[in-house]
Amino acid sequence: MPLVLVRTVSGLEGLAAEEIAAAGHRVVDVSKRQLVVEASDELLSRPPRLADDLFVVRDAVPDPGRTKAGLQSVALSAQAAGPFAVSASFVGERNFNRYDVEDQVGAALGGVYHSRRDGARPPAQRSEWRVVLDGKTMWIAERPYEAPLHRRAWRQRTVVGSLHPPVAAAMAKLARIDAGMRVVDPFCGAGTLLVEAQAIAPDAQYLGIDRRPEAVAAARANSALRFRVGDAARLIGTADRILTNPPWGVRLGVGDFMPYLRAWRRVLAPDGLVVALLSQEQTALLSPDWTVHEAYDLSVAGQHPRIVGLD
Ligand SMILES: C[S@@+](CC[C@H](N)C(=O)[O-])C[C@H]1O[C@@H](n2cnc3c(N)ncnc32)[C@H](O)[C@@H]1O
Repeated sequence: MPLVLVRTVSGLEGLAAEEIAAAGHRVVDVSKRQLVVEASDELLSRPPRLADDLFVVRDAVPDPGRTKAGLQSVALSAQAAGPFAVSASFVGERNFNRYDVEDQVGAALGGVYHSRRDGARPPAQRSEWRVVLDGKTMWIAERPYEAPLHRRAWRQRTVVGSLHPPVAAAMAKLARIDAGMRVVDPFCGAGTLLVEAQAIAPDAQYLGIDRRPEAVAAARANSALRFRVGDAARLIGTADRILTNPPWGVRLGVGDFMPYLRAWRRVLAPDGLVVALLSQEQTALLSPDWTVHEAYDLSVAGQHPRIVGLD
């Protein structure tokens, strides 16, 4: 069984591990932003939707520790073929930087190495290697795909604030959508949440709504699901699920958020559930009208939003 590194958004490690275990693979280690999985080829052909990216392990040696001398003494047996680039990360304090790791590994792997030091862009035709020093192990792994997993083939267009697809997939998983359910995103933007939900639950009915025609046009370019311009006010009591990420901060001030919360209550069917990605400030407005059943704090693109499951 090949070992695979699955990289995740910070905060989604546990949910991604559940998805992978449910598909019959053994998760052997969970750390910040990373799972180590004993995987069959099926994991590569049906990759997890909650994963940010996935790499097949080609080598694993003890983490060389803090010093540059330790890093330089690492001996690797893996070999790269053709043009390749390396991207490295580590936990903890080190007396070297990511480029030192990348160049060291790049030189050791043979092939035609393209360094990212000094901002150089590697050529489009290359293999991509990932190095992670997690405090115990130095993992050297290769992406078996041309593009990162989070880059979805369906995504032709985005809008300001478009969601990272693996985060949308995690929210869709938490929504527990059954066949026939009516699922509404009242702030649909380019449709990311509903498209990812449909991939998990294809037999539900999806409706995306946004007040901006440009957003609805982007959603329609991405998917044949139903999207319309406007608001959700007319859908009284009809939504089994509301799956959404409203804008945060200046684009929808905290004070302006309360009417939307009241609208969600009207739109939601009696046994309905909301799964939303909210800012910390928006989350503070939920009490006492909403019960938060689950919450996942994320760290994504420098922001710290929270996925909440509510009713
Ligand atoms: C954070 S974006 C949603 C992004 C979407 N999940 C995606 O992945 O593309 C929020 C969306 O809410 C829409 N919006 C902002 N204020 C709104 C309002 N008052 N009513 C309805 N939609 C609104 C914006 O046009 C924007 O497309």
